[in-house]
Order: sequence, then structure tokens, then C-alpha cells
Amino acid sequence: MPADTADARPLAEPMPAEAVAPLIRGVAVVRQLTEAGGMLSLSGLERATGLARSTVDRITATLARMGYVRLDGRDAVLTPRIMELGNAYLAALRLPSLLDARADALADELDESMSLAVADRDGIRFIHQATRRRAMSLSFRIGDLLPAERTAPGPLFATEWTEREWRRWRERRAADPRDEGFPAVPERPSPGPDFERWAVQVRQDGWALDDQLIEPGLVAVSVPVRDPRTGTIACVASVVSHTSRHTAEDLRNSLLPRLRSAVRTMEEDLAADLREASQGEPVAAPSGLATWTGASKQELGREFVESLARGLTVLTAFGEGRAELTLTEVAQATGLARATARRALITYEHLGLIATSGDRRFALTPRVLSLGFPPLSRTTLPELALPHLTALASRIHESASLAILVGGDIQYTARVATSRVMSVNIAVGTRFPAYATALGRVLLADRPPAERPHLGELRALTPRTLTDPVALEAALETVRSQGYALVDEELEAGLRSIAVPVRDRTGRVVAALNTATHVTGRTVEEYVRDILPELTATATAIEADVRVAGRFTRLSAS
Ligand code: PHB
Repeated sequence: MPADTADARPLAEPMPAEAVAPLIRGVAVVRQLTEAGGMLSLSGLERATGLARSTVDRITATLARMGYVRLDGRDAVLTPRIMELGNAYLAALRLPSLLDARADALADELDESMSLAVADRDGIRFIHQATRRRAMSLSFRIGDLLPAERTAPGPLFATEWTEREWRRWRERRAADPRDEGFPAVPERPSPGPDFERWAVQVRQDGWALDDQLIEPGLVAVSVPVRDPRTGTIACVASVVSHTSRHTAEDLRNSLLPRLRSAVRTMEEDLAADLREASQGEPVAAPSGLATWTGASKQELGREFVESLARGLTVLTAFGEGRAELTLTEVAQATGLARATARRALITYEHLGLIATSGDRRFALTPRVLSLGFPPLSRTTLPELALPHLTALASRIHESASLAILVGGDIQYTARVATSRVMSVNIAVGTRFPAYATALGRVLLADRPPAERPHLGELRALTPRTLTDPVALEAALETVRSQGYALVDEELEAGLRSIAVPVRDRTGRVVAALNTATHVTGRTVEEYVRDILPELTATATAIEADVRVAGRFTRLSAS
């Protein structure tokens, strides 16, 4: 379709007859949960979506079955697993993987925040953030949508808008004068500068400055990163600061030259990647989807909305080396019938989550990030682990804890206690010497001696504490080979603890998980036989979430 004909189309297109209604409702539920910060009560969802309570119940039960939502009493809570949808878009886009190290290096060099953003219709969406921890900073999250005209990347993208996009922008401004459709930004106080003239200006300049358009104090300077094949804007790199550190003028004079040279390097990286890239073949049918759907139907009966579950798996068919897929490829990758895959694709096109190119190839749009990504992109490891610890504690009727290494100590970062009369009483934040604890031995065992913290003198905390460095080294070797640590009364008389490692995508141990009880409970053998498999299963479940959540965001350990 030539551009001018496309531009004449009405902006809001009617729902196609083949669209899958339950998929549309499911997406609406996920979006409402996202806008609410990741959690809503079921009755809140009913109000926010306008759906019947029974529909909300069936949709959330299906999302829970898929592992995208956790039902917590009367609340529905998005789980880290839902980030696999946004991950599919970010992996297909490749820009975050190719450019994030450069962006982070520039942020370190300038000691300012950096971001990468892409265009999403008449808005911008962040695909990477390298933020400084400051008391005074407003920082956006990966996936957040901002109105183009209130950001520095916006006018740069607008230099490429067609008349249709300008029309969409004018209509949106008229319909939403206070930017209420953009929950990530404060209300718009005034109309702001003339955006159309601004876009003409930045076309000449090749950079744009945001002088407190979003909120007082926030200043940013942006430069486009161009696609070496087409010369069009692939993404926009920005340096963001606060007027207490830099005026807008300052950003332009002192930081813009360095941003521009970093962007040149980014463009060289993109060109080099194009020369090297072997665009991988789409992977065929990974899932036992048919079996899984059958089992889910059995288990949930009418509560399972099969067309929603099938439709959502279509998004995960995309990924690295699978940015553009034909209908046949989508059907192969998901194991769905062509007709089913086709209807899901039509539905997503209608929702603006998938776009087609002229040769009937489908690609995810940045809007996929609106499905759960922003609220979860700041999840920390303890937050992520907590529901798993709760489930573990209720299965084994013992407390469960997560800890990290801080210097030569372990520090508890998450904990679920049991309600027993005699339970082990430890609060989050508590530290113990690593050498005398099962948690510490798991954490120490992962590190080569040269990379271990200095442990100082190994003091005897009980008559059983290992104080001989050679004996400790042997104990760590045992932990490495058997995959867990069991420590009996070395920290405190009567206390027995068993711990297992929690690893990230790269296999590095990022935390240790344990349970501790009084020695008069189970025997050591019973402990290993009954408790260890539960701990290991919990660590595996946490690791699955860590892999999804840590793929494009930095998962803080505490
Ligand atoms: C940001 O990265 O937070 C950012 C970038 C450009 C703006 C405003 C904020 O204009």
C-alpha cells in the first residue's frame, strides 16, 4: 500500500471479524495490571476492564496457569515470568544487547543517567536505562511510554513521521490535553513548545534538548542512532540530568559532544553486527503446547481460556534471530494450527502489538513492553524470591531465607518465618560470619580463593566451628561437589542449617537459600532426604524467574 493511501485510513480501525475476543480481554487484563503497578484486586480488575467478574476470574486463572500471574487472596499479581513477552520484543530488536554496554560505559564516564528509546506511534518507549542512584532523580523504567512532545527523543522521531502519524498526534493532544493516557509522566501543566516547529529545528540540528518538559529540574539531551542499512533512526540515545547538576545549556555544551561520539561508536557497532550477523533460522516447535493445553483444560475445566493461552504463546515465537516471521513460521514455532496462529496475529495487529511488512512478515512492536514490563523491570532478587520462600516454608513447615555475601559476612535479604513456638528468629538485614554458616559456605564455594572476601581469623563460635582454614577449604570443596551445604551447630549450639545456591543466567551464584531448625527436630539423614529436594526445587524456580527478569534488566541482589 503506498504511503499516502495508508495515511488516509481512519486512525481507529474496527475490530476485524476474525479477532479472538478472549485474547483481547486477556491483553486488557494484563495492561490494567501493568498500569496499576503490577497488582490489582479481582474486583479492581473488574472495574478497570469493564469485564464481568466471571470473565476476570477465568482470565486470571488462565494467566496464573501460564505462570504470568500469581493469585494472592483476592489480588492478582504479575510475576517476573511475564517479562518473557517484553523479552521477546527486546531480543528480536537486538539493540539492547548490542548497545547497552556502550550506554552504560558513557553513563559511568559522565556520571549521569543514560537511556535508549524507540518510537511507539506518537510516543517514545525506553528500551534501556543506565541510571545513577541519586536522591533527586526521576527515572523512567524500561517499557515506560512518554508523549513524544515532552521528551528530547520525541522531535527526533517526529522528523520521520508521516502525515498519518501527525494526524494521530494532533487527535491525541486534543483528546487528552493533560497526558492522562501516559501514567509514567506527571500531568502536563501547559501546552509546551510548538512541537511541529521543534521537529523542523531538530532535523537541522541532529540533536534535541529537553529543558524540563516533563518536570521541573529534569533536563536531557538526545542524539539519534541511525540504522546503517536504511539511515533511519533505530533508537535515540539520551543523557539525562538535573538542573542542580547541569543546566540545559550546559548539557548541550559539555555533554553533547561526548554523547555524539558515543553514538558514532554505537552506529559502527551496528554496522559491524550487520556484517557478522547470521540471522538464525526460526526455531521449530519448542513447546509441548498441545499436551500442556490438554492438561490445563483437564485441571481447570471451564476456568481455562484456551484461546488466550494459545494466543499469548504466539508472542514468544519471536526473539533473537526471529524478528520477522511468516505465518507458517509462527505456526511451526508454537505448534499451533495455521488458522489459530493467523487469528492471533490478526488480533495482535488490531491491538498494535504486531505489525506486518509488505511481504506478509510479522514483527513485534514496542507496545509489547506494555504487557507487564515496566513494573517488573525494577524487581529485586529478594522481591522475586519472596513468593517462592513463602511456598517453601508452607510445604516444609520451617522458615526459609535468602542471603548474599557482604564482605566476609552473609546478610539475610529475604525471609519467611514459621509460626512454630520454637523457631529460629532472624530478621532481614542480619549478618553472620560466612565461614560458620551453610548460607556462607554455599556463597564462598562458588568463588575461586583469589576472589573470595578476606575472612580474617576463623573464630570458634561454638565448640564445633571449623577454625582451621584447611578444613574450611575441604568443606567448601564438598559443598561444590555435592551442591549443598549442611552446617551443624557451628554458628550457635542447637542450630542446624542446610543451604543451596541460586544461580543467574551465567551460572554465577547470586544468593543462597536455606532453612534452619533446632537439631532435635529431624536427623541429618532426614534433613537431606526430605528438606534438600524441596530447597533444590525452590532454587530452580527462583532461577527460572531470575533468567527471565535478568535478561534485559539488572536484577539487584538486595
Ligand atoms: C530519560 O531517559 O529518563 C529521559 C530521556 C529523555 C528525556 C527525558 C527523560 O527528554
